[in-house]
Amino acid sequence: MSKVSLDEIVKFSKRKGFVYPSSEIYGGFAATYDFGPLGALLKKNLEKQWRYWNITKRTDMEEIEGAIFMHPKVWEASGHVGGFSDLLVEDTETKKRYRADHLIEDAGIMENAGALTAEEIDKIIIEKGIKSPDGNSLSSAKAFNLLVKTHLGPVENDTTIAYLKGESCQNIYVDWKQVVETTRRKLPFGIAQIGKVFRNEITVKQFMFRTREFEQMDVQYFCHPNEADKFYEEWKNYRFDFYTQSLGFSQDNLRWRQHDEDERVFYATDAWDIDYCFGALGFKEMEGLHHRGSYDLDQHSKFSGQDLTYLDPYTNERFNPFIVECSGGFTRIFLAMMFEYYSEEQVKEGETRIVFKAPYNLAPYKCAILPLMKKDGLGDKAKEIFASLRTQGIMCNFDESGSVGKRYRRQDENGTPWCITIDYDTLNDETVTIRHRDTMVQERVGISELGEWLNSEKF
Ligand code: GAP
Repeated sequence: MSKVSLDEIVKFSKRKGFVYPSSEIYGGFAATYDFGPLGALLKKNLEKQWRYWNITKRTDMEEIEGAIFMHPKVWEASGHVGGFSDLLVEDTETKKRYRADHLIEDAGIMENAGALTAEEIDKIIIEKGIKSPDGNSLSSAKAFNLLVKTHLGPVENDTTIAYLKGESCQNIYVDWKQVVETTRRKLPFGIAQIGKVFRNEITVKQFMFRTREFEQMDVQYFCHPNEADKFYEEWKNYRFDFYTQSLGFSQDNLRWRQHDEDERVFYATDAWDIDYCFGALGFKEMEGLHHRGSYDLDQHSKFSGQDLTYLDPYTNERFNPFIVECSGGFTRIFLAMMFEYYSEEQVKEGETRIVFKAPYNLAPYKCAILPLMKKDGLGDKAKEIFASLRTQGIMCNFDESGSVGKRYRRQDENGTPWCITIDYDTLNDETVTIRHRDTMVQERVGISELGEWLNSEKF
């Protein structure tokens, strides 16, 4: 297991252009981040892999892309207006507010304080003498709703309140009947969505781990109630395999954690997390799997007055299907990738290098074109190859500054699997040197074979 610190990952991400603090020229804006050129490519590649694994590769999945604004009743029906809250305590001097469970966890009193009631929290704070981070006494705990509220329309009053989407799955539930009707799908089948989510988190710390704006990658699988346990187990295994097989994560960095009954979220009858070991931060939740029963369709049918049942064409049975949910936080998976692929290794006595060991399909650039010299026609030849590979749809980088050794190191940090060097022999025999990121082994390949050679994913 890697013990790299969060601080190293934050610095590396910024230095290389994976992730920048958002609005930085204005001093940043708490817990908001922009994906830089390398980060945006990595993010798109993760999306592609996720989509392939969860949708394309299967025959029982559909995908939708829902709106961020939804009817406010959606959030009443889902239970978020009444119940989606964290317990906060206030510093009695500075009036700053803190998540009570986080203060208790940070004080080393317990690992998971999320299930504590307000009374239990108040008792622990008094008995253990917990103070605010500024050393002042704390108020008693009070519930605080996490939905981000706004107003839509020309006036601001109670009739124009709208919420930004608090969890991505809700579009799937309210659209479910239309998906059945338009696709003519029969149970069991699933609906996937990658969607933006907003939560007014009070404790925003640990870089991208907990932010107020993030994306969720959701699979909601609809089935007959009798089959829900079976599909729940199947999806648990399938999602775990995604991390090891598709993203190449080490088994040692992953673990399962079942939620205790008093910790479980209101809509779930069973819940498991896939935890990832975020270096020195240790194991933390990366994806949540929930056995949701028919809670969501029951609620939406009650609040909307619409019939959302499914009519089984074989048995004529009519019912609200059960739902198995797999919900991964995109930004957390992204952060996990930063930890997983970042490595420092000794090349020889007294010389180390940083390598971003992303698998070929996830690497931001598949190759980099490096002319040995800018002069003598080498630069022009390199640009010609660069343009040709880009035209073939291969995302490659171009680097002509500094020694070839320095450029190799730069590309190792970018995670570029292959460096292609154009030298004097290239001008005579139309071949180039290809250097492998991980083994540093070099071989000679003809220019005409490059496209096919790179597309064959030899990694
Ligand atoms: N629909 C179920 C749901 O929203 P959740 O456990 O609240 O469940 C699912 O969220 C996943 O979303 C989590 O496992 C986590 O990866 C991610 N997530 C939740 N809150 C987050 C936050 N504030 N910042 C980044 N990711 C978050």
